[in-house]
Amino acid sequence: MSKVTVVGAGKYGSTTVQRLAEADVIDEVVMIDIVDGLPQGLALDMNQSRPVLGYRTLVTGTNDYADTAGSDVVVITAGLPRKPGMSRMDLLGVNAKIVKTVTEEVVAYSPDCVIIVVTNPLDQMTTLAADVSGFPKERVIGQAGMLDSARLAHFISEKVDVDVLLVKAVTLGSHGPTMVPVPSLCEIDGKPMTEVLDAETIDELVDRTRGGGAEIVAFLKTGSAYYAPSAAAAAMVEAVITDSGAEMPVCAWMTGEYGIDGVYLGVLAKLGAGGVTGVTEVALTEEEAAGLLEAANAVKAKVADLEEIDF
Ligand code: NAI
Ligand code: 2OP
Repeated sequence: MSKVTVVGAGKYGSTTVQRLAEADVIDEVVMIDIVDGLPQGLALDMNQSRPVLGYRTLVTGTNDYADTAGSDVVVITAGLPRKPGMSRMDLLGVNAKIVKTVTEEVVAYSPDCVIIVVTNPLDQMTTLAADVSGFPKERVIGQAGMLDSARLAHFISEKVDVDVLLVKAVTLGSHGPTMVPVPSLCEIDGKPMTEVLDAETIDELVDRTRGGGAEIVAFLKTGSAYYAPSAAAAAMVEAVITDSGAEMPVCAWMTGEYGIDGVYLGVLAKLGAGGVTGVTEVALTEEEAAGLLEAANAVKAKVADLEEIDF
């Protein structure tokens, strides 16, 4: 009997639940929110789509953490999304308090789960959830790299007019200005991206990827992206639930890889039943390696901001 909980029944949370239910690889998906009736109504609606789409996963909507008990994986999406002109850092104070409370409840009812954090600012919230949970670091993971890599792949496919499924894109580092797109690992129809596109075009695509979230926020005016983000979180959950060992870019705890230690950072890692089963160290150019180190230092500095918060 497999069970996944998604905390937060807003845009990101509810679309993640829908994707997980439709994948039909989990027995029960629990969706919990502080708003009375929201998760219950959405769950009822989703469950009624089962006969049409032909899947069995049951969604339970609740405001009570007792219903989340014994979850194998918990995805934390609770928090405020970024508004136009608001940086991820602006969200820090508000979302840190939410993530701390949520993590305490999650751990009390699912002491053996893997936690996947998506609430922004992502690097700090992942660190906070790990600290509050007291879990081994491999059981707390952040989602950002899958999304950022997917955005870069989309931009590349549009630029060169190639089937998006023939594009491989990788971003490492942080979710934000110190994101480290890795052109040397990107491929277009089997060819290195650096052979297909000139440096100026690559820079243009990389810049657009770094601002990929803000570009969508500016269009939407209220709220932020959730279709690609939920696809990314669902892929991570599925890798853990099915113990697939799939390798993907995630925010993982560093223990000396690339010479970096003691910080959550976006890297390629394998996911399985216990969370991160291994960080993959790939060959980087000098510039990419320097970017990764810079991102690690930036995250360390931002994590220090958590100490200023009056919980
Ligand atoms: P939303 O506003 O649609 O939903 C947030 C939900 O959290 C609301 O339903 C709210 O009632 C709920 N909530 C607030 N406090 C809660 C608590 N203590 N317990 C349970 N639920 C609580 O926002 P959306 O679009 O779903 O975004 C959620 C978060 O995900 C934001 O912080 C956003 O910045 C982040 N995000 C992260 C991405 C990433 O790549 N890591 C990508 C996109 C969004
Ligand atoms: C995004 O990248 C806002 O982090 C969110 O879409």
